[in-house]
Amino acid sequence: MEERLQKYLANCGIASRRKCEEYILEGKVKVNGNIIRELGTKINPQKDTVEYENKKVIPNNNNIYILLNKPIGYVTTVEDQFGRDTVLNLVKVKERIVPVGRLDMYTSGALILTNDGDFVYKITHPKHEINKTYTVTVKGIINNDEIERLRKGVKIEDYITKPAKVKILKTDIEKDISRLEITIHEGKNRQVRKMCEAIEKKVLALHRSKIGEIGVKDLELGKWRYLSSKEIKSLINNN
Ligand code: URA
Repeated sequence: MEERLQKYLANCGIASRRKCEEYILEGKVKVNGNIIRELGTKINPQKDTVEYENKKVIPNNNNIYILLNKPIGYVTTVEDQFGRDTVLNLVKVKERIVPVGRLDMYTSGALILTNDGDFVYKITHPKHEINKTYTVTVKGIINNDEIERLRKGVKIEDYITKPAKVKILKTDIEKDISRLEITIHEGKNRQVRKMCEAIEKKVLALHRSKIGEIGVKDLELGKWRYLSSKEIKSLINNN
């Protein structure tokens, strides 16, 4: 079956589809030995040989890795017993993908989905916890003591959270809200919400802006893209 060159390159993990379009326009891509600069070009992966920077492009063993910018109102499961919208309603691919880890229904932001079970295992293993960065808007003006407590670790149920990076992004005295950036490398259930509860701050909005160094600011809410091989490696090799 034929597919657009930039889609094929992105599927093979070269880069995002938009970046692959740039590579095509820059003359970095060859099909059957000829440089192709037209974005409308279609190829047949069974018959055509595609090269990027003179190296043959090989499909990723049919494993796919997707980054979704999840909107609020979607549950992070494959099927929901209450019939609510799931993140899979937003990502229509033929492969059977699953979410890697979880975001609450009312949390938006970066979520990875894949059909690579080994990858899911590695990435969600507690030993391997990757940095996850959240933007959280809370009611009230946060003070330095509260920030320090979040940084050092707070008690959530019977657990003390590990040291976190915490930055104040904004305080708005008129609206009586504060916006923080919190980076954690553990993944306890509803951890950020519980951390805010521990300092008696009500969470008004929660968004995961980054997983490792992979951010979603260039993706509209509800949109997704394939991860590049470099991004996949950065997650696997993270320690
Ligand atoms: N922490 C939360 O409280 N919720 C999420 O969805 C992710 C992290």
